[in-house]
Amino acid sequence: MASSSSSNIQKDPSTYKTKVSRNENIAKLQAGYLFPEVRRRKAEHVLKYPDAQVISLGIGDTTEPIPEVITTAMAKRALGLSTVEGYTGYGGEGGEKQLRARIASTFYANLGINEDDVFVSDGAKSDISRLQVLFGSNVTMAVQDPSYPAEGNQKSLACDVRGFLIKNSKTKVTKSSIKNVAAVFLRIAPAIDHQTPLQCCTFLPCESRFTSAVQAYVDSSVIMGQTGQFQKDVEKYTNIEYMKCTPENDFFPDLSEVSRTDVIFFCSPNNPTGSAASREQLIQLVKFAKDNGSIIVYDTAYAMYASGDTPKTIFEIPGAKEVAIEIASFSKYAGFTGVRLGWTIVPKEVKYSDGSPVAKDFNRIVCTGFSGPSNIAQAGGLACLSPEGLEAMHQVVGFYKENTKILVDTFTSLGFKVYGGKHAPYVWVHFPGRISWDVFSEILEKTHVVTTPGSGFGPAGEGFVRFSAFGHRESVLEACRRFNELYK
Ligand SMILES: Cc1ncc(COP(=O)(O)O)c(C=O)c1O
Repeated sequence: MASSSSSNIQKDPSTYKTKVSRNENIAKLQAGYLFPEVRRRKAEHVLKYPDAQVISLGIGDTTEPIPEVITTAMAKRALGLSTVEGYTGYGGEGGEKQLRARIASTFYANLGINEDDVFVSDGAKSDISRLQVLFGSNVTMAVQDPSYPAEGNQKSLACDVRGFLIKNSKTKVTKSSIKNVAAVFLRIAPAIDHQTPLQCCTFLPCESRFTSAVQAYVDSSVIMGQTGQFQKDVEKYTNIEYMKCTPENDFFPDLSEVSRTDVIFFCSPNNPTGSAASREQLIQLVKFAKDNGSIIVYDTAYAMYASGDTPKTIFEIPGAKEVAIEIASFSKYAGFTGVRLGWTIVPKEVKYSDGSPVAKDFNRIVCTGFSGPSNIAQAGGLACLSPEGLEAMHQVVGFYKENTKILVDTFTSLGFKVYGGKHAPYVWVHFPGRISWDVFSEILEKTHVVTTPGSGFGPAGEGFVRFSAFGHRESVLEACRRFNELYK
């Protein structure tokens, strides 16, 4: 016979609580606001204008197909898994030797980085978190303001609602039933907390909840317990050093005003501003880290977009090998945002204050929590680094760079101050004296184009709007035609 407490649980499972207390660091996190809010407004807009051709230049996800030379290699590896000779199980946690060696020789030739320094991963975002676990809760950290909010993995409202209906609806799921449920959701969401669609999803089963956009470097630091509480008035956490990057300082922080921290997260070419640090600026950054005994975590997810003499890796800077760790990714070069493959370089020369190598501990973290990247993805990575694969990746990058140029030229000819775009697939447009969200709404209402408000990336982004160059060519051209109409 069931006990009375278990029958209670069955009667009203929603009132049952465990005795486990919530992680107090998680409780400090602010609601993932930016992309859920962008999505909410987009969904609202679609309901208001069901016939509008909405174009998304908002979330920075790739749109172009993966080149065939790469997918063919993945398909071959996948089919090989069905054969006795081709089957492989667990691989090395840090990736296959051949791929590690190919990454070292392709991106770090003559820079003293070899295959032992390369840790192949399931993407840069995962490695940001692994590095935070490595550093633990007692370090201090600095981050650029504005900075990268993790923006992948955002399911659309329609997608969530469709999944919910398929699981729960007794009748056929149609476009109009999705629309109706979405409309109800949009009505109740603001009533609960217009900034936190995530919480509203308690109405939906777990597997169809929204994922929230997070500040990748900042939130992982908060989760690790490196920070104090969020200060609502300044929109910052205590115990994080925010390095302001604006046109006034050429998007490079005034290091004479930056306090010493143990770890410095630095992203170049930068998401969202699209700017890239010059060689001279990186020399300053490395010197700053050396003088302070800090470690730089250098995020180069967009290195292949950098033009001219702009360094493609921090290891081009003399002395960087003693103070820098570098994160990189195939996501934006080969359309691998869904395939998942990246890498992190931890040179043996980077040491803790007790003289032990950071790489040894990072290896331990990786081996503890990760069984290595998918073997199929790694076959794709190797193909990316073949001569044909490299050529194909350059074409993908070149295509998005052409999109970027179209956006830059459009806003420049309309008289705006336009930043970025030269070294990254993001265009950062200034709307002086205006609130970023107001400009976002104006553009959406009048042109049906979704963008991203700059203030969502950090307080220093207020007054800016980010335009992503990830899109099909005809969409970018059409969006620019509409911008020309709106701002002529
Ligand atoms: C600066 C930056 N770093 C890292 C990432 C995440 O890359 P991945 O897809 O490899 O996790 C992104 C994705 O948008 C990014 O913009």
